[in-house]
Amino acid sequence: MIALSEPVLGGNEWKYVKQCLDTGWVSSVGPFVERFEEAVAHYVGADHAVATASGTAALHVAMLAAGIQPGDEVLVPAITFVAPINAVRYCQAAPVFIDADPETWQIDPSKVESFLSEECELRETGCFNKRSGCRVRALVAVHLLGGACDIDRLVACARAFQLEVVEDTAEAFGVRYKGRHVGTSGGVSGFSFNGNKVVTCGGGGMVVTNDAARARYARYLTTQAKDDPLEYFHNEVGYNYRLTNVQAAIGLAQLEQADRFLARKRAIAAAYSRGLEDIDGLAFMRVVPECEPAVWLWTFLLPAATTLAERKAVIARLNAAGIGARPLWHPIHELPPYREYQAYRIDHAMRLYGRAISLPSGVGLTDEQLQRCIDEVRRAVGS
Ligand SMILES: Cc1ncc(COP(=O)(O)O)c(C=O)c1O
Repeated sequence: MIALSEPVLGGNEWKYVKQCLDTGWVSSVGPFVERFEEAVAHYVGADHAVATASGTAALHVAMLAAGIQPGDEVLVPAITFVAPINAVRYCQAAPVFIDADPETWQIDPSKVESFLSEECELRETGCFNKRSGCRVRALVAVHLLGGACDIDRLVACARAFQLEVVEDTAEAFGVRYKGRHVGTSGGVSGFSFNGNKVVTCGGGGMVVTNDAARARYARYLTTQAKDDPLEYFHNEVGYNYRLTNVQAAIGLAQLEQADRFLARKRAIAAAYSRGLEDIDGLAFMRVVPECEPAVWLWTFLLPAATTLAERKAVIARLNAAGIGARPLWHPIHELPPYREYQAYRIDHAMRLYGRAISLPSGVGLTDEQLQRCIDEVRRAVGS
């Protein structure tokens, strides 16, 4: 099976991990953790980075640092991997689901605007949902599949309604929007370095922000909120969310190769587009203006009339041919833990889910494997 995304560990990973083992620095204290934080902050052009055990942990802490409180509501995309929505619930806040743009597949900024202007009212104390009476505290901008949301438009809208913006950059390492790295436009963001990401620690994440106070608070929360470490005194509930030195050692070695990885990702995307663009009815993700994507998982849509059963059959055919194709995530507002929450004018999410197929996109994919994926897709869609 040609895997959807496999890490390539061909740089200094062994050398740096050996240094951890040789010196005994294997837990969450150690020089690689700080080196990795500094290197990520420098790479994406942010002032602060706080390493965490996972991207989900980074998002949870980013949301707490953004001031999301129990009982708040948070605007989230209906189409995304579930982790950012779970993080909203870890804060005991409630998601309000917003539709995907049918062309870019990212959260639709026009629906964010209409939800806030039609369904909410701005009071002196903030923005309130007229239906639930709850405060709408934040918007989670998830940059999907190595593309980008229209983040400037979302940030402007959020400002007008006194909302915080938390960026989820788990799938968008290396993506630039108007020349800036994603994850540096909102107040705080969460990266992931899971095994299937462009740069990996095995498992790991990072809170990124330009706000020193938020970075300090994130660091405090990720290390059990120690107010007086010597006396084990804690003023609030903390978390054991810190990245270990061994994971950071792998991450640092990976980051050294990031430019090469991103170039390969872009070449894979270009090859898929060239190889499949002549097939009638297939559609590809449109990037928002002035976005330089990194195409984490290259994904296409089957023709508009395709049924869910037909899309499942195409994936089954690809899998049987040894191609690790996968669907897009099931829209979250229809999942059992989330059905009771408000979903605002969701017209496109289910259609996207019913037509989308992600193809193997790992940086280690050879040209021969890539051509095989293209040939098998052509065969599976009958072209
Ligand atoms: C959009 C998105 N957010 C968050 C995460 C969570 O990251 P992690 O697996 O590192 O917890 C992922 C994927 O893993 C993701 O795709």
